[in-house]
Amino acid sequence: MKKINEVKRIGVMTSGGDAPGMNACIRAVVRTATYYGIETWGVRRGYEGMIENEMEELPSGDVGNILQRGGTMLRSARSKRFHEKEWRQKAFLHLKENKIDALVVIGGDGTFRGAHALYKDFKFPSVGVPGTIDNDLFGTDLTIGYDTALNTVIDAIDKIRDTADAHNRLFFVEVMGRDAGFIALRTGIAGGAESILIPEAKTNVNTLIRTLETGFRRKKQFGIVVVAEGDDEGGAFAIAEKVKEKFTSYDIRVSILGHIQRGGNPSCQDRVLASRLGKGAVDALVDKKHDVMIGIQNKNIVLTPFDKATKYHQEIDPELMHLAEILSS
Ligand code: F6P
Repeated sequence: MKKINEVKRIGVMTSGGDAPGMNACIRAVVRTATYYGIETWGVRRGYEGMIENEMEELPSGDVGNILQRGGTMLRSARSKRFHEKEWRQKAFLHLKENKIDALVVIGGDGTFRGAHALYKDFKFPSVGVPGTIDNDLFGTDLTIGYDTALNTVIDAIDKIRDTADAHNRLFFVEVMGRDAGFIALRTGIAGGAESILIPEAKTNVNTLIRTLETGFRRKKQFGIVVVAEGDDEGGAFAIAEKVKEKFTSYDIRVSILGHIQRGGNPSCQDRVLASRLGKGAVDALVDKKHDVMIGIQNKNIVLTPFDKATKYHQEIDPELMHLAEILSS
């Protein structure tokens, strides 16, 4: 049964680093809104496009055949200007001019901070959808794009293992996450890493060398160390240099996976997650809920206020850290 509501036109946008599954989420927002008799407008290039009035109607037909594509059909940007009220005011006036009643914003904590500021300044309502490969957001077990990124990294690590094995080499593989080690931890476990270095745990190069020496004494022929880009010792190149000085048993190489982690067709899990969250965001607006992030916890849809979602981070699971340590010994 369709719900009767006061929201006549919503805007949808993607902001911050893109993540595979954002398109699936845009589609879900548009199709759910259509189901409720609500019109959707697409805002291009996140808050930058809002400031520049880059918005137009996004009918249901326009989101056909995007479900399986990486990137975002609405484009994305990180807007510095939106931190200033003067630019937010301009963006707000464009939303009003285009008769947009509420927004669905897909992105990370920076995106939600922007939406929260719009609410504080002008009482403009938004619901946030977690879209980032980092999976670091408080209030949701999973973010859109994380699963796809994990699979991309694992595919790369498996390939690196082949050549590492062939040449008896030690590889330092750097994965994304300047503030978060979720990608590194999961792929390190799944990729059989000797060690996993993440921003959430202090790195000690001497301890790392001792771990590598133990492995070498046990006749390990090669090794993989997974490093999150935000590790406190300065990333894979810096750490590899320090290790090279004291540990000469293996020939050492570095591989930075970079932005391939952000692209590609979303996994089945990300498509379903994006579809559920996109629909849930429109449901929330119809139910007059706003200034919240929608998330999944224990398979259920939950809402978390923006000020909470942006204040805290998801925490690294100590059990997984312990598991990684045991399995690499
Ligand atoms: O937030 C997603 C993310 O991919 C991080 O993992 C990474 O540190 C950052 O974005 C890179 O951002 P940019 O594409 O702007 O260099």
